[in-house]
Amino acid sequence: MTQIGIDKIGLALPEYVLRLTDLAKARGVDPDKYTLGLMQEAMAIAPLSQDIVTLGAQASAAILDDDDKAHIDMIILGTETGIDQSKAAAVYIHGLLGIQPFARSIELKEACYSAAAGLEMAYNHILARPDSKVLVIASDIAKYGLQSSGEPTQGAGAIAMLVTANPRILALNGDNVYQTRDVMDFWRPNYSPYPQVDGHFSTLQYTDCLTTTFNYYKEKHAKSLEDFAAVCLHIPFAKQGLKGLRALNPSPAQEERFMEAIRYNQQVGNIYTGSLFLSFLSLIEQSKALKAGDQILFYSYGSGAVCELFSGTLVQGYENLLQSNRLEKLANRTPISVADYEKVFFETIVIDEEGNSSPLPNDPSPFALIAIDHHKRIYRSMID
Ligand code: CAA
Repeated sequence: MTQIGIDKIGLALPEYVLRLTDLAKARGVDPDKYTLGLMQEAMAIAPLSQDIVTLGAQASAAILDDDDKAHIDMIILGTETGIDQSKAAAVYIHGLLGIQPFARSIELKEACYSAAAGLEMAYNHILARPDSKVLVIASDIAKYGLQSSGEPTQGAGAIAMLVTANPRILALNGDNVYQTRDVMDFWRPNYSPYPQVDGHFSTLQYTDCLTTTFNYYKEKHAKSLEDFAAVCLHIPFAKQGLKGLRALNPSPAQEERFMEAIRYNQQVGNIYTGSLFLSFLSLIEQSKALKAGDQILFYSYGSGAVCELFSGTLVQGYENLLQSNRLEKLANRTPISVADYEKVFFETIVIDEEGNSSPLPNDPSPFALIAIDHHKRIYRSMID
């Protein structure tokens, strides 16, 4: 049977970064709480001119060529920081990237989970149409609010994955299992810019959904944890992922792979829908121990709650599709002070009576939101 899976994977982050040791100092908290207790180092900070569209477009532009744009017939964008109640952010991205017109563009929502659903939708779409390509984007800006319990776990960024037949990075195994439970651990009402969070309850839900779904997965597929070289988990903050992994009784090698899989997340923070895939990118770019044929187990968790377990197999030559200087790029982002973070991350667009915005910051990124004009978002692209 033809293999289907991830052929290319791209990442976009905003330019600014806040060190958590600086945040800890400003909040009068022992820095070890953030760096050891949560196992986080820094968070990516998006200015007003960056949103899920600009970040999603940038992550996609980093991997797509003209042939891809001519064959993509579906764009699925998972997010929980939507910019419009009606128009899908994927439609803007379709336009900004110049993808051929006969494509479907949609947005999916279920907290941090929805991009994993998008990946399986892409898999099934390619199964029926092996010549087409699907662009799956996970794009989010995670804001919990100043001095909130979740503040040190914020972040911003996007992952783009091109799903095709005969993929060159990861073949999906088609063994997905899911669980839904109606709980109030984290949610964001329409009238609120920040989520409501029952923080400690959410951490228990994350782990309980993982263990119960893994028992179901094992039963259904007659597999055990030993079948996997590595486990990638949703990473709201790295310690949460480690607690989840340990609840499955991993081997020392699986714990080593986990430490490789959180390196990017520790420097970026939570990017909600993209966090699981950022962790996968970190694993395959940072691990020297993995090889083609290795099986990887994925755990996606979205509060509310829906979770999913599925697996994939690394494809021969996968390392040729990756970047070797990503940690260097992370280290070269522009550091921002706590005072500037409080301004940049939390300022909002002011709209006048006619639906026009006040001036937005000048932004040299490949894609930027430059204005709101009569309630219409206006984007600028520097890509041909
Ligand atoms: N030195 C070292 N470690 C320290 C320390 C110090 N001085 N002070 C505290 N710690 C440790 C604590 O022992 C704790 O570690 P353990 O859990 O291993 O014991 C850790 O630091 C955190 O301390 P607290 O639990 O006291 O921290 P908190 O209550 O202020 O905040 C939180 C924790 C509630 C999870 C908060 O970060 C939060 O609200 N986060 C947002 C919600 C979230 O991410 N939930 C995850 C599951 S839900 C999900 O996955 C979806 C999603 O993306 C949101």
